[in-house]
Amino acid sequence: MSLNGKSAIVTGGGQGIGLAIARSLAADGASIVVADVNEETAQKAADELIAGGAKAIAVAVDVRNAEQVEAMVAKTIEAFGQVDILVNNAGITRDGLVMRMSELDWDLVLDINLKGSFLCTRAVAKSMLKARSGCIVNIASVIGLMGNAGQANYAASKAGIIGLTKATAKEFAPRGVRVNAVAPGFIQTEMTAKLPEEAREALAKQIPLGTLGVPEDVAKAVAFLCSEGAAYTTGHVLNVDGGMVM
Ligand code: NAI
Repeated sequence: MSLNGKSAIVTGGGQGIGLAIARSLAADGASIVVADVNEETAQKAADELIAGGAKAIAVAVDVRNAEQVEAMVAKTIEAFGQVDILVNNAGITRDGLVMRMSELDWDLVLDINLKGSFLCTRAVAKSMLKARSGCIVNIASVIGLMGNAGQANYAASKAGIIGLTKATAKEFAPRGVRVNAVAPGFIQTEMTAKLPEEAREALAKQIPLGTLGVPEDVAKAVAFLCSEGAAYTTGHVLNVDGGMVM
């Protein structure tokens, strides 16, 4: 229980990779704030964690909204005293070829994936910098490293997250706050379930380890970056992708 007494906000924690991260940090002893725009899944996830013996609350938040994000941090401090860990996981896709991509789809993806991560980082910074400790993990993607046809908005948002990770890692390091990113490859969740079977098979062929990953693979990497084992690691992008990017 290496995270005993620590609190962790997981955005987009109601389902998929975020839920796996919330479960994993809870198993390591952290108190969890399940922060999600979907109030119902957030509450369900928090109830599950509490039933498993963890401390958890659900907070409804749209990460694009600075006021709601500030309120999320205030609720965390009210419930658990401080914020020790932030996992910027909330993210969406709105795929399309550039020629046909609407400004709306560009803005939506950049606003949720990138601006949302900035707003949450800014909101926890005060408490973490004052405490001279804290850990932020941003969920990027291999697409932010390699690009992908039909995902210009998503690739730009995830490449942006990597820049945000490195800039904040440098800015916060003198105060003992670490910032890292995890770049998942193709993970079996609702996001990838939308893909047709042939597309999934074609994807698996690009993966040296031969299969799609599971949310727990990402969650274990996040838990490591939040642990004492990663005390000397900051500004790093950890690929969890079956060897896709090397
Ligand atoms: P998902 O679609 O299953 O879950 C995303 C969660 O984020 C949902 O609970 C949703 O309600 C929440 N969310 C969406 N918009 C929000 C907003 N404005 N404010 C707060 N919460 C919001 O997606 P999945 O697959 O679990 O992805 C999680 C993260 O992992 C995303 O950042 C995604 O880009 C990233 N990722 C996923 C990969 C995959 O293969 N599934 C691969 C690489 C990265």
